[in-house]
Amino acid sequence: MCGIVGAVAKNNVVPVLLEGLLRLEYRGYDSAGLVVANDGLHRLRTTGRVAELGKLANEQETLGETGIAHTRWATHGVPSERNAHPHYSGRISKIAVVHNGIIENYEIMREQLQAEGFEFVSDTDTEVIAHLIAFNLQQIPDLLEAVCASISKLQGAYAIAVMEEARPGRIIAARNGAPLLLGLGDTGNYAASDASALLQVTKNMIYLEEGDVAELTSDGYRIVSCLNGKIDKEITRAVHKSNLTSEAINLGPYAHFMQKEIFEQPGAVANTLEMVFNAQSISPRLFGNDAEKILSQIDSILILACGTSYHAGLVASYWLETVAGLPCNVEIASEYRYRDPIAGPNTLVVGISQSGETADTLAALNYAQSLGHQHSLSICNVAESALIRQTNLRFLTRAGPEIGVASTKAFTTQLASLLLLTVTLAKMRNKLSGERENEMIAALRHLPAALQLALQVEPQVKAWAEKFAEKNHALFLGRGLHYPIAMEGALKLKEISYIHAEAYAAGELKHGPLALVDKDMPVVAIAPNDVLLSKLKSNLQEVHARGGELYVFADADSHIQQSEGVHIIRLAEHAGLLSPILHTIPLQMLAYHVALQKGTDVDKPRNLAKSVTVE
Ligand code: F6R
Repeated sequence: MCGIVGAVAKNNVVPVLLEGLLRLEYRGYDSAGLVVANDGLHRLRTTGRVAELGKLANEQETLGETGIAHTRWATHGVPSERNAHPHYSGRISKIAVVHNGIIENYEIMREQLQAEGFEFVSDTDTEVIAHLIAFNLQQIPDLLEAVCASISKLQGAYAIAVMEEARPGRIIAARNGAPLLLGLGDTGNYAASDASALLQVTKNMIYLEEGDVAELTSDGYRIVSCLNGKIDKEITRAVHKSNLTSEAINLGPYAHFMQKEIFEQPGAVANTLEMVFNAQSISPRLFGNDAEKILSQIDSILILACGTSYHAGLVASYWLETVAGLPCNVEIASEYRYRDPIAGPNTLVVGISQSGETADTLAALNYAQSLGHQHSLSICNVAESALIRQTNLRFLTRAGPEIGVASTKAFTTQLASLLLLTVTLAKMRNKLSGERENEMIAALRHLPAALQLALQVEPQVKAWAEKFAEKNHALFLGRGLHYPIAMEGALKLKEISYIHAEAYAAGELKHGPLALVDKDMPVVAIAPNDVLLSKLKSNLQEVHARGGELYVFADADSHIQQSEGVHIIRLAEHAGLLSPILHTIPLQMLAYHVALQKGTDVDKPRNLAKSVTVE
């Protein structure tokens, strides 16, 4: 949450800061601000979006060759101009700080700094950092050293960028638990929360590691580590050429990133499965060099994830148990980390995350490892993320940058990866004949084309969306493999259209939720032609008999008839194990079109942000 950009160059950096913030807006968008050095520090802040900040910069003709900027997702303190970053402090020399993350000991630090005479003007934890650095600058007149001294006192996860009025032309950036990278350009050097913010100026990136502190000037940079509040040593980090393209981060012909990302799914899944397309058979090496050794030892799976990624884990648990014969537990990461679970020596812990920086997932995985779990695998969309670095095995979903806050292509690529894991494990455990393996590889190869077909139901879904826009509540039903898909459909609808939506395993309806059903309660059912279809049909009858309006996503061969109060959209013929992936598409589209009808901010729904780097 929160996006940071810093720039120090031989020319005006305001356009770079603004463009960078625009790219990072997905990380938080309840206020924005920047500060530049130009004969003193000049700060602009707004509770509007980055576009608003741009207008202010234009009106005030703000210019400067050194600057830091921030787009916020509020944790401590309401979204207001007072709480917007950058935050100032300084007695001897004014400094400005932008921060992403949470300072957990901010209350104690605040008291201590107040006792030193520092006056707090915001409700944020960030202001503690600003005053702490200013306090240290009184004794240590070098900003880099003062930052080193300050971060030794901070607890929590953060990425910060700091600049000083007295010595403009320099930015100090530090990372501990929140992402931060450097960009090395021809006319300047930069820092940002992710590469997309800096693509406008450079492709040469350095991914900072935990504990790194960097000093940037327009001519160069250095990275140091700090020990006991002092600079310890110089660090060398590799420079990577980013392979991000501007196409990947621009809207192109689409109205919203969510729409673009829904339609990118055939390509995203094809990229994720590329190695399989070229292979005759599936090899464990897809999951890392040690995968063969590690996967051959495991006897159970524990999946840790949040939100949409958790739903992917739930689908995978059906696959892993049915196809690979492996017991599988799926846990909400924020719950798991506060329980006393029993660690099995041969359990594979799988962390699933689009961003790879979700604080709960990282902490849960860490906790699982501390309990004695030795084998871990990450399924993640960001190659340089903390999650990828935390596990022995890894598989990168190659969905490309997902910018819309509601996760779409990350989910379907996670599912494709998890099916690949299932097939790999099933094969290693002799649960899969050569013939069945070939069938599954063929089905995976066909998946992008099948997704393309599923996208064609858009006009029908759009017509349904008009009816949903007037409703306040909706129920989503599924059974078996498709129950998690119903959960995902409900999550999509609530997060972007603000319609209250709940998912139930269809058999549970009669145990309580059926009481909610009336003519104002649309009931969405995922009804593929699988072994549970006849059971599901009985559940749908129960709804119909009580006047509930049914919206059924069925397969072409599902034999469910349209009638008064029963609307049907048919996908292709039943896709077997791949069916949950295909049935996700119309549910994403439904949420998208309902949100359009309601006029909500599709890509940036209220109160949310893309990467949840706080507890
Ligand atoms: C919902 C959504 C969230 C994320 C969740 C986990 O559309 O995007 O529920 O799935 O915050 O995020 P990652 O996958 O980045 O760990």
